[in-house]
Amino acid sequence: MTTPQPETAGLENLLHETRSFPPAPDFAAAANAQASLYNAAQADRLGFWATQARELISWHTPFTQTLDWSDAPVARWFADGTLNAAYNAVDRHVEAGHGDRVAIHFEGEPGDTRTVTYADLQREVARAANALAALGVSKGDRVVIYLPMLVESVVAMLACARIGAPHSVVFGGFSADALRSRIADAQATLVITADGGYRRGAPSALKPAVDEALAGEGAETVKHVLVVRRTGQETAWTPGRDIWWHDALESADTFHEPVWVDAEHPLFILYTSGTTGRPKGILHTTGGYLTQAAYTHQTVFDLKDGDVFWCTADIGWVTGHSYVVYGPLTNGATQVLYEGTPDTPHRGRWWELIEKYRVSILYTAPTAIRTCMKWGDDIPAAYDLSSLRVLGSVGEPINPEAWMWYRRVIGADKTPIVDTWWQTETGAIMISPLPGVTATKPGSAQVPVPGISADVVDDEAHPVPDGGGGYLVLTEPWPAMLRGIWGDRQRYEDTYWSRFRGLYFAGDGAKRDDDGDIWLLGRVDDVMNVSGHRLSTTEIESALVAHDIVAEAAVVGASDDTTGQAVVAFVILRGEHADRAATPEGAQAVQEELRQHVASQIGPIAKPKRILVVPELPKTRSGKIMRRLLRDVAENRAVGDATTLADSSVMDLISAGLGAGT
Ligand code: WTA
Repeated sequence: MTTPQPETAGLENLLHETRSFPPAPDFAAAANAQASLYNAAQADRLGFWATQARELISWHTPFTQTLDWSDAPVARWFADGTLNAAYNAVDRHVEAGHGDRVAIHFEGEPGDTRTVTYADLQREVARAANALAALGVSKGDRVVIYLPMLVESVVAMLACARIGAPHSVVFGGFSADALRSRIADAQATLVITADGGYRRGAPSALKPAVDEALAGEGAETVKHVLVVRRTGQETAWTPGRDIWWHDALESADTFHEPVWVDAEHPLFILYTSGTTGRPKGILHTTGGYLTQAAYTHQTVFDLKDGDVFWCTADIGWVTGHSYVVYGPLTNGATQVLYEGTPDTPHRGRWWELIEKYRVSILYTAPTAIRTCMKWGDDIPAAYDLSSLRVLGSVGEPINPEAWMWYRRVIGADKTPIVDTWWQTETGAIMISPLPGVTATKPGSAQVPVPGISADVVDDEAHPVPDGGGGYLVLTEPWPAMLRGIWGDRQRYEDTYWSRFRGLYFAGDGAKRDDDGDIWLLGRVDDVMNVSGHRLSTTEIESALVAHDIVAEAAVVGASDDTTGQAVVAFVILRGEHADRAATPEGAQAVQEELRQHVASQIGPIAKPKRILVVPELPKTRSGKIMRRLLRDVAENRAVGDATTLADSSVMDLISAGLGAGT
């Protein structure tokens, strides 16, 4: 068979990596995870998960069934149990006498701070839940949350969970139009936002995007907008519809009885890019999701009393859902929540925060690690990072150089690194070394966590032998798995379950090394991974062709030293505009105009790094764009085999015409 061509190039060196770091004996002796966990899970997988669910989660009504797979591929876990996610994340810790424990050390970008204990969190969440109920939000209603990284964002999510209203968090960096389409798809009745947030030293408005989204088509279901005051900037107001968060909470009671829901009650919808232009609303439910989020947070990060955890992800992404909100809080952990960017007001900000709060577990993304690496060792060296004892990575393959730097410079050459593979769809960590158990290898996520079954298969769904490459699949249902795509069961089945019968197709290329360890090689579909954010080539292409001057567009992810991949777009201009790009200045103006257009349609993260104006695009006889060839151009390689093109001279035309637009 042929190894699928990974979308993330430049990973060849992964396959020659042979270094291995066995756990330190003292760490291993004290670790939460022991090797026997694998045996226990293997001996009785369902029994293992039932034990986790009983030990880590408080049930209002205990469950008696573990897995119901009769409606596959939609799973039901712990289905006859009832619980409440917010009660698990907050109240029960207060009831257990830990009300004084710090839940969140909040640090705003301008340097303002706030310490929130579990007792504080309980009062705020109860107030917010009462406020939502007073606005008519009830069990099953969808609430869209569009906020910066604030304590209120966590409170808002938990308040929704407390009343059984599924939340759908939309990343604050998304445009008004992206927000509108998500509101419309979820048919949300309430939006929670802020006047703005601090970004790179200045207030950045958020509310105008909500106003614009709500003026658009499909957003008529929204009755109210709750607005957190963060920056105090001038904010347009729609009386009757808009309500200040602080006003709504001030008058609300601090007692609220949680709404007990079935384990399979929807907890949240989170939109993610797929291979088509339309984002998918990934649906997660309560009991199974919470179980696996808590279990992996405790096991993979070796969480102990006294730890200070910091996951740098934004709550707009799944990592923020599982490892800022639900995992750490369900485990009663203390964590840092930081509003801003790593280089504001200086490039040592993260390391300063680690020193200040004595952070012991750091969970971040390879793109951030590579950026810090570029800034130089002397920046982290100026801070006391000795509190760190576990380091995590997520979001994209981590190249061995960045892994080694992370371990040496941030981890004092001894801290275990957990490279965790998972997806919005999987809900929680699936493949990762266990600190204290696994001898780690730079660049490999290595092994499924106990209770998870994964494999690497070839085109015919046969497992590849050690040393072989193929596609990553998940072979057994898992508790935190998505329960579908909101409102579209067929798309769920087609996207994940049609490629290989009975196996979940993750969309990632993978390889097994000679020890049987798994190495992730990047996406094998039309999804790009830019700075750990998933972007769809089709979605950006649709945005580009929506612009008047563009006739056709093709987008590829080209490998990039810092962001993993970078968006590179090839566009054909409409006839009457074609000569606008004839001069270098003209081409630059066109490029800038189109970049801004993509930013306004999707969001700044989707802005192409380069836009190349070309006369033609390479297509097969069936009309499919051959992105592989465009990627060769974008990565300045010799163009590969072009024999299946309908017109093989197209690549010559493209190569000859380049230069002006680059
Ligand atoms: C990629 C983020 C290699 C992968 C939690 C996956 C990774 C996609 C890793 C999901 C990793 C995530 N090694 N690749 N440790 N973690 N990915 O939905 O391509 O934003 O399919 O979830 O990110 O991205 P998502």
